[in-house]
Amino acid sequence: MPDDRPHPAIGVLTSGGDAPGMNAAIRAVVRTALHHGRRVIGVENGYDGLIDGTFRALGARDVGGILPRGGTFLRTRRSERFLEPGYRRAAVRQAAAAGMDALVVIGGEGSMRGAHALAGLGMRVMAIPASIDNDVVGTDVSIGVDTALNTIVEAVDKLRDTASSHNRCFLVETMGRGCGYLAVVAGVVCGAEIVLIPEVESSVADVLEAVRDANRRGKANAIVIVAEGASIHIGDLLKAIEVADVGFSARASRLGHIQRGGSPTAFDRMLAARLGAKAVQALIGGESGAMAGLDGRSIKTVALSRIIDQRRDLSVDDYEMVKMLAR
Ligand code: F6P
Repeated sequence: MPDDRPHPAIGVLTSGGDAPGMNAAIRAVVRTALHHGRRVIGVENGYDGLIDGTFRALGARDVGGILPRGGTFLRTRRSERFLEPGYRRAAVRQAAAAGMDALVVIGGEGSMRGAHALAGLGMRVMAIPASIDNDVVGTDVSIGVDTALNTIVEAVDKLRDTASSHNRCFLVETMGRGCGYLAVVAGVVCGAEIVLIPEVESSVADVLEAVRDANRRGKANAIVIVAEGASIHIGDLLKAIEVADVGFSARASRLGHIQRGGSPTAFDRMLAARLGAKAVQALIGGESGAMAGLDGRSIKTVALSRIIDQRRDLSVDDYEMVKMLAR
């Protein structure tokens, strides 16, 4: 008797905050799986979709045209329900009933924790880091970070034009949650005077002095980058600069969700392709409970148990470089 049961499928979902390049990663997952003769099921709305069974079959043409698009066409959520063990077990049952024998999770730090929990329930899981925050441990960089940085550069370059025309100091708030990576790199590549990040304690006095110093040295503008998780709020800094005599007037700009959108850069597309292919090949090779990440020039896998609930180290050299190059 021929076995006419469909082959088990690999599921794929995106979770947490969206990041440019998530679509490129989904495409890589789907097409790698198809190349190896596997079916793919797309899970909509992140872990909520796994609980609710909002599934759709994904063929090669279903992921056509999504490579250059920001966001995620599978949509994403931060699922409250998935934090509860009962819903997690329900999600595993839904996946099995749909014929999924493995799952690829694309997301940030919180999503890695979800993937680890699923692996603990016996589900075969591989994860791919995608978050503009770059707070995932176990990869040099996550999908979306490069695009977000390029968006920040474009915005700050424009703010500098108007800042110079009016002899102003601009305070620019970047995203990143509890991680100062975006702010530090933006500080270096945009030529900021000083950067405020969650990982390093700074005072209002430090900022006033840096801005005053820029004015003394004859600069036409001063840029201050403030990570959203820094202990000093950008609004309070603005008030402090307005009443202090720093030689510049001041304005503040919160870049907000602009940083999450846009077509992924070549770097992010390449990273998404490599991580997507690796995650599927690892699953097919029998690996589970791990994340595909960038390590130097290589793509490697690392156990989720080793990376969850870890705080990513910040490059102190890069942080110090902001001030050194601001002369
Ligand atoms: O994790 C990505 C991120 O953009 C953070 O930088 C930010 O703190 C948060 O998501 C914003 O979340 P939401 O889209 O729910 O406002």
